[in-house]
Amino acid sequence: MKKSKRARSTVAPRNMDCSLRDAFHTLKTKTIFTYDTARYPFRETVAAGLGVDPGTLATLNHLPSGKDLPDSTEATLALKALYDDFVCNVIAPQIDAILPCGGTVVYQSLPCMRIHPGNSAALGPRHKDSDYEHQEGQINFWLPLVTVSGPNTLYVETGEGTGVFEPLEMIYGQVARFYGNGCEHYTVANTSCVTRVSFDFRVVPGPCYDSEHPSCKKFFVGPTSYYALATVPSETQSGDKEMRERYPSWRFVPRTAFEVKNRSTMGLTRKSRRELPAGNLKT
Ligand SMILES: [Fe+2]
Repeated sequence: MKKSKRARSTVAPRNMDCSLRDAFHTLKTKTIFTYDTARYPFRETVAAGLGVDPGTLATLNHLPSGKDLPDSTEATLALKALYDDFVCNVIAPQIDAILPCGGTVVYQSLPCMRIHPGNSAALGPRHKDSDYEHQEGQINFWLPLVTVSGPNTLYVETGEGTGVFEPLEMIYGQVARFYGNGCEHYTVANTSCVTRVSFDFRVVPGPCYDSEHPSCKKFFVGPTSYYALATVPSETQSGDKEMRERYPSWRFVPRTAFEVKNRSTMGLTRKSRRELPAGNLKT
């Protein structure tokens, strides 16, 4: 993808309420946390799609480099279902606990799959995602399906513009959250014999989503587009304890439901997208 020559602020989304700046700063700070691999067996799901034993992912050096999802539709759908569940029940609640999202989280529809075989060149150039016009409110998540360190992992800048990089030293079952929009990141030649298999995705809290950002021409919310929507049912936001217990989860908005609820966005013309109020995607 061609890099943008446009220089944009990476401090905070321009449309975000000032009262959320501290919370956004917390979200941007790199952190690594764990999730339940029994409930979210990403390694097994991806291995099934590749037709290999889950325990052999890190030793397979004949896989092609790149970011293709497993090439069977069935496997892709299985991964997509697991991923939507994960975003709605792990990622969205976590973000909402830090930065109140008003019931709406925008997230990458399909995660990017990365396979970096041992003894192979680096994948892609050093960059920050804003180089590719991603919007300021976007937070990155990165999940390895094997143990990663040294030459078979991702190096992330410790802060915007610091020029200091640290490798993500992680095991399967951990997730890294970082501000890849403003912090540069890169891989090095994988001189190890361990194949790195990982996937990554990007999330924008509802109040940070800028529907008038130039990137919305290509990265917009809608059917078959880059972003999908996770919402928490309005009943849950009522403050009623019984209703919160009854509807505890965030929900992925299926494309059909999204189409029904957001007819004004369905034309996907620049005009109709601009009609979306900035920072407010409530359904
Ligand atoms: Fe990136």
